[in-house]
Amino acid sequence: MITGGSSGIGKAIATLLIKYGANICIIARNQTKLNSTKAELAALKTHPEQQILAISTDVSQWEQVQKAMNLAIASLGSPDLLITSAGIAHPGYFTELEIAIFEETMAINYFGTLYCIKAALPSMIQHQKGHIVVISSGAGLIGLYGYTPYSPSKFAVRGLAESLRGELKTTGLYISIVYPPDTDTPQLAAENQTKPAETKLITQSAQIMTAEKVAIEILQGINRKAFVITPGLEMSLLMRLHSLFAPLLQWYFDRLMRKLHKTRNTDDK
Ligand SMILES: NC(=O)c1ccc[n+]([C@@H]2O[C@H](COP(=O)([O-])OP(=O)(O)OC[C@H]3O[C@@H](n4cnc5c(N)ncnc54)[C@H](OP(=O)(O)O)[C@@H]3O)[C@@H](O)[C@H]2O)c1
Repeated sequence: MITGGSSGIGKAIATLLIKYGANICIIARNQTKLNSTKAELAALKTHPEQQILAISTDVSQWEQVQKAMNLAIASLGSPDLLITSAGIAHPGYFTELEIAIFEETMAINYFGTLYCIKAALPSMIQHQKGHIVVISSGAGLIGLYGYTPYSPSKFAVRGLAESLRGELKTTGLYISIVYPPDTDTPQLAAENQTKPAETKLITQSAQIMTAEKVAIEILQGINRKAFVITPGLEMSLLMRLHSLFAPLLQWYFDRLMRKLHKTRNTDDK
């Protein structure tokens, strides 16, 4: 079961899994995108009995999530893998962003993750099998300029995964948390439309991975039963050293900011 399975990282994971012969349930809001992804996945089936379910659901709505999970479990059985990739990001200046953006981002990225786990977990516990994979971000390790709605939602996902990890130990289930770097997906393209100039400057030298490469590293991490999955070298370093790096990174970002503002002031004169 893959939320956000109609696009980007979620779709790339679904594509790999269908090639491995899995039954798949993709969950997202837009039915047209779901249908076209379902058709693309159907063309990649390795055997005719493979099932693909596409359920239109808003993961920020608890009742909708419960219905979707019940339907998916009734059709395909308790999930071996529950991957919560549905997410949004609206970068911008804190002072200019509407409160609704902060609320929507937390509702989808954090509560959308929590609701899916909460709805699927009883069945997974009953069957004593399954692996939950939640998707955070590098912005869930360090707060980033321009990401005041997004970073806290991804920090929250981290808090949830780390707290839940211990509780799942005795159930035979696994949980992993992924910190993807900037990944070439429709979300990143949309973010680039509203990123403040300062954010563009900070992120311009960051590594950008393809969704396929990120998906491969996620599946490798699942195979290893790794709790933390960090696609690419930058995220691996950031994960291990972010507390040490934070003052250094903040100093560097502030320096970039000062340079940008100095250039702007000179241009204004
Ligand atoms: N791309 C990056 O650079 C990057 C980096 C780090 C972390 N991430 C995280 O990775 C995950 C996947 O991102 P992506 O880049 O693959 O994004 P994407 O291409 O925009 O895909 C997002 C998916 O989530 C679905 N979705 C969004 N809101 C939803 C809602 N309320 N209910 C159900 N489905 C919803 C979208 O479909 P609908 O719009 O039709 O609902 C779509 O299928 C996100 O959690 C993102 O924050 C991405």
